[in-house]
Amino acid sequence: MKMRIDVISAVPDSLISPLNTSIIKRAKERNKVEIVVHNLRDYAHDKHKQIDDKPFGGGPGMLLKPEPFFECIEKLLNERKYDHVIYPSPGGKFYDQKMANKFSLAKNILIIAGHYKGIDDRVRQKFATDEISIGRYILTGGEIAAMVIIDSVVRLLPGVLNDSESALNDSLMDGDIIEAPYYTRPAEFNNMKIPEVLLSGHEKKIKEWKEEQSKNLTDKWKKINNLE
Ligand code: ADE
Repeated sequence: MKMRIDVISAVPDSLISPLNTSIIKRAKERNKVEIVVHNLRDYAHDKHKQIDDKPFGGGPGMLLKPEPFFECIEKLLNERKYDHVIYPSPGGKFYDQKMANKFSLAKNILIIAGHYKGIDDRVRQKFATDEISIGRYILTGGEIAAMVIIDSVVRLLPGVLNDSESALNDSLMDGDIIEAPYYTRPAEFNNMKIPEVLLSGHEKKIKEWKEEQSKNLTDKWKKINNLE
């Protein structure tokens, strides 16, 4: 099955390069996902193609106007059903691996990326099914959050990663687990040696070492992040 992801943005160019690189590029080439970026300005019809305006009630900055979003979203909703209409926003639910797993089961996803100070709230009220924050900080727009969501979802689609890259082994995949560190050749570099056990060829010892490292790193990670 091929997933379709639509993204609406006032700065679509900012998405082009990351969507045509590495694993996402490969996923498109393997026909696992189709990603369509819509330029909000194409849906503005006044002579200046204006997509932003001053906020009612005052305050600094400009807001994205509702009409171009409504026109673009309604057109897309007429064409197909979307499992999720995602609105990235600092006010949303914190994004995590569980949500990525859930989104990866969808057939069609629509992401509404806001820019400038935000979007007229009627767009969110009318269309958003999932309001998502990627962390407790403010970005200049929803595009980078959209990229984070797309990247984390696309790599989970069957046939996107090769076996050796399998998402099943990932940290955080089966709960909050941080993996042991990895090393490659040379075994000694810059006066830094890799842990001896990894050179031992002793499978059981290596497995035990990895489990111990993983447990220690997970405990440390929980502590520095005030979890549990
Ligand atoms: N837009 C601006 N900041 C954001 C954040 N932290 N998460 C999602 N969307 C955003």
